[in-house]
Amino acid sequence: MGESRYAVEMLGICKQFGTVQANKDVNFSVLKGEIHAIVGENGAGKTTLMNILFGMLEPTAGKIRINGEPVKITSPNKAIHLGIGMVHQHFELVPNFTVAENVCMGHEPRGRFGAVDKKEMVRYTRALAEQSGLQIDPEARIKDLSVGLLQRVEILKALSRGAEILILDEPTAVLTPLECEELFVVLRRMASENKTIILITHKLKEVMAVADHITILSRGETKGTLRKEETNAKELAQLMMGKAAEFEPFQRKTFPDSEPKLVVENLHVRDGMGVEKLRDVSLRVKPGEILTVAGVEGNGQTELLNALIGLTPVSGGKIWADGVDVTNLSVKERRRRCSYIPEDRMKTGLDLKTTVHDNLIAGNHCSPDWKRHGLVDGRKTRAHAEKLVQDYAIRTDGIDIAASSLSGGNQQKIVVAREICFGNDILVVAQPSRGVDVGATRFIHEQIMQARNEGCAILLISTDLDEVLLLSDRIQVLFEGKLVANVRPADITPEELGLYMTGSKTMRPEEVMA
Ligand SMILES: Nc1ncnc2c1ncn2[C@@H]1O[C@H](COP(=O)(O)OP(=O)(O)OP(=O)(O)O)[C@@H](O)[C@H]1O
Ligand SMILES: [Mg+2]
Repeated sequence: MGESRYAVEMLGICKQFGTVQANKDVNFSVLKGEIHAIVGENGAGKTTLMNILFGMLEPTAGKIRINGEPVKITSPNKAIHLGIGMVHQHFELVPNFTVAENVCMGHEPRGRFGAVDKKEMVRYTRALAEQSGLQIDPEARIKDLSVGLLQRVEILKALSRGAEILILDEPTAVLTPLECEELFVVLRRMASENKTIILITHKLKEVMAVADHITILSRGETKGTLRKEETNAKELAQLMMGKAAEFEPFQRKTFPDSEPKLVVENLHVRDGMGVEKLRDVSLRVKPGEILTVAGVEGNGQTELLNALIGLTPVSGGKIWADGVDVTNLSVKERRRRCSYIPEDRMKTGLDLKTTVHDNLIAGNHCSPDWKRHGLVDGRKTRAHAEKLVQDYAIRTDGIDIAASSLSGGNQQKIVVAREICFGNDILVVAQPSRGVDVGATRFIHEQIMQARNEGCAILLISTDLDEVLLLSDRIQVLFEGKLVANVRPADITPEELGLYMTGSKTMRPEEVMA
């Protein structure tokens, strides 16, 4: 067989999970040396299709050709052998190992007597990180890293196996705009070296910036493949959703000046090593206000979230919710006053083993709303869960299946739906639309805006600048654990915000507190 133009050809792929047909007769071809994007709504079957290509799932029907050769990809090992690498939507790293150990896993450099050469492992990882523009400390432990850094390790791990075809499942969902740019530079360079990149993303702007071809999946079926030049973000959204994605600007209700609902005073937080991660952070959020704490991942946002919700003790300062000093209260006590959408749904947002119903009720199962004669009334909780599934268009095969069998974006919708419907007047929201499709993102933004307009005090943490500029009433920027700016979105450009986020510019302390 001659040289094929195609790196990947998937023909007539079908995949059935119980009653759900995740892929229906999908044809998908990727040219050598191109960046090919796959887009589609949450649950459209994108991850399933790529898991089949990477040998993690067996298709119910269909054929695969790699470089023109028919192949059976029965395991990830087989896929790696065929030169296919995959960066997953959910991290698959060993928490107690270092970055270098994870990157080199399975192909550890060895010394003269066959022992693993740790020094070489670190040197190799450092070189790979530098060469690919994905900066990281090779000796850091995985369990100490933020979500953004974990993603870098995943990408490095795939690169280290010398993949010729690299699949990335929503790699940018957890990256900052700057990190995305850096990643795209890496991907473009790889493509120019005739490597083939398959990229799943919900960010249509990104698609238009990097992809050569775009394949649209909708409810398990392909809606065709387009050349980047012959389409635009609007058309892609329309093809994905089956309707136009024109969104009205938000109505913002104005509120009379009042006492803040959430107050943080001179907060200090140290990590396990005693390093100060938050330095004298003070902020206040009023009813009907969305305050965003922006910043590059790793500058203290995670510590701020954990301190607010009670997952990390503070080394100084106070936190007040609704006029109550909650600094030393339990997580449970705090959650009665404050809803919380965590940044990492897999770690803290969901119990993947339990059902969609239980996850939608979790934390609120003692609510008097569900009680009948002092007992939890299953009919009421079920009706509530069913309604949330409807309202948030959570694609699931009923409320009694395990949350783990939902697609990534649909899992995220469970957390958002649950927390927003609690109706607390303080809402702490981290990365609410991470991994969520265009339509569902809009819906989530509407829910957040509605909560604001009903007088909820909202603290938002997001690496998505579009989201920050769209939702915020005010933005404060964290840099190296300190607040360095306090601005209104109308008064700042994304570029200027970037300068504060990278520490290139700071405001005077009295301006930050104004
Ligand atoms: N292991 C599984 N068991 C049962 N159903 C599954 C399983 N994996 C996926 N599904 C179902 O298959 C469908 C497609 O899921 P998939 O994860 O491929 O979607 P996706 O396009 O990647 O969505 P997202 O954008 O949310 O990540 C969904 O309805 C999902 O619930
Ligand atoms: Mg997916």
